[in-house]
Amino acid sequence: TKINWDAEMVEKQGYQHFMLKEINEQPESLKRLLALYLDDDQLDLGSTGLKNNWLQDYDKIQIVACGTAYHSGLLAKYLLEDKLRLEVEVEVASEYRYRNPIINQRTLLIVVSQSGETADTLAALRLAKKNGATVLALTNARDSSIAREADLLLYLNAGPEIAVASTKAYTNMVAAFYLLTVDGMRQRTEISRQEVQAYQTALIKLPELLRQVIEHTGAKVEKIAEKYAVQEHIFFIGRNTDYTLALEGSLKLKEISYIHAEAYPAGELKHGTLALIDTGVPVVAVGSRIDIFSKLFSNLKEVKARGAETMLITIENQDFEASSVDYLVELPEFNQYFVGLLTIIPLQLLAYYTALFKGEDIDQPRNLAKSVTVE
Ligand code: G6P
Repeated sequence: TKINWDAEMVEKQGYQHFMLKEINEQPESLKRLLALYLDDDQLDLGSTGLKNNWLQDYDKIQIVACGTAYHSGLLAKYLLEDKLRLEVEVEVASEYRYRNPIINQRTLLIVVSQSGETADTLAALRLAKKNGATVLALTNARDSSIAREADLLLYLNAGPEIAVASTKAYTNMVAAFYLLTVDGMRQRTEISRQEVQAYQTALIKLPELLRQVIEHTGAKVEKIAEKYAVQEHIFFIGRNTDYTLALEGSLKLKEISYIHAEAYPAGELKHGTLALIDTGVPVVAVGSRIDIFSKLFSNLKEVKARGAETMLITIENQDFEASSVDYLVELPEFNQYFVGLLTIIPLQLLAYYTALFKGEDIDQPRNLAKSVTVE
């Protein structure tokens, strides 16, 4: 594919790695996405090709993608189903394409791809189109195969992403799903106009909050990462959207630090994985969903009781027993549906600094490619 990005933009600009540069660029790249689809602070997805009342045209949404893009879809399912009351399936493209999924003209297939060239995702798109689905692409490459073949296009506008481990593209994927959620909410008479407006306002505040979180968590996470760099296994737990962030946090860590990491829905631990928790085993609890914080925290206490070394990411001013938490990272209070984009920051930084302490090749991890255009 042809890449037209300005040569100057792709330099490291003083950062030691592209990954750190791209983490720091997130407030700006998010603003670029919002600028495309917010007009005078009012959401307008018309340029994607979506109809003003698209919600009524579909019985279900299928979200299909690979890797980090897949994780953005997992997060989106929680929001879309909750707010739109429309069924959402999320699947990795390499599975979807080989299993005869149920697709028809009332299916909206959303493919998510930074590069727009991932072979399995493209094959999934073609399969769905052949079976009558409408295909919406969320991609960062406007002239890619996926962008060209999709019926509708929501352009991520994150700018060039060079590091193999995706950060700012993920942020804009999740934000794109936020836009779709609010646009769907707007079409539902059951939801008050005040609520829709409040969500729009929250979106507009997001880049500045992201900037603050990056600024305030970096040094703290760096210290924690120094301890984690000597570990062989790290577990991540979370509930609801925090579980999907735990998956993404563990993928980032695996990709660049080569530490074995696994993410679990916190409530599922006791069905097997708890057997692996012993003295000194690191467990990162992702707890930014206040509505279920007490449930997450009781799982954290269970692992602490078995000797785990615990890190908690949560919202400031929570009430909990500090003795169960070895390392604490706090985030500012924010709309519960959109808080995930703040939560992902310490997880990205944890992966980055852990790999840095281990001296790994952060931007070019072994065995991995930025874009996987063959099966
Ligand atoms: C590769 C990259 C991942 C990425 C995945 C999907 O495995 O290393 O970072 O998430 O492909 O890529 P896409 O371009 O479709 O988002």
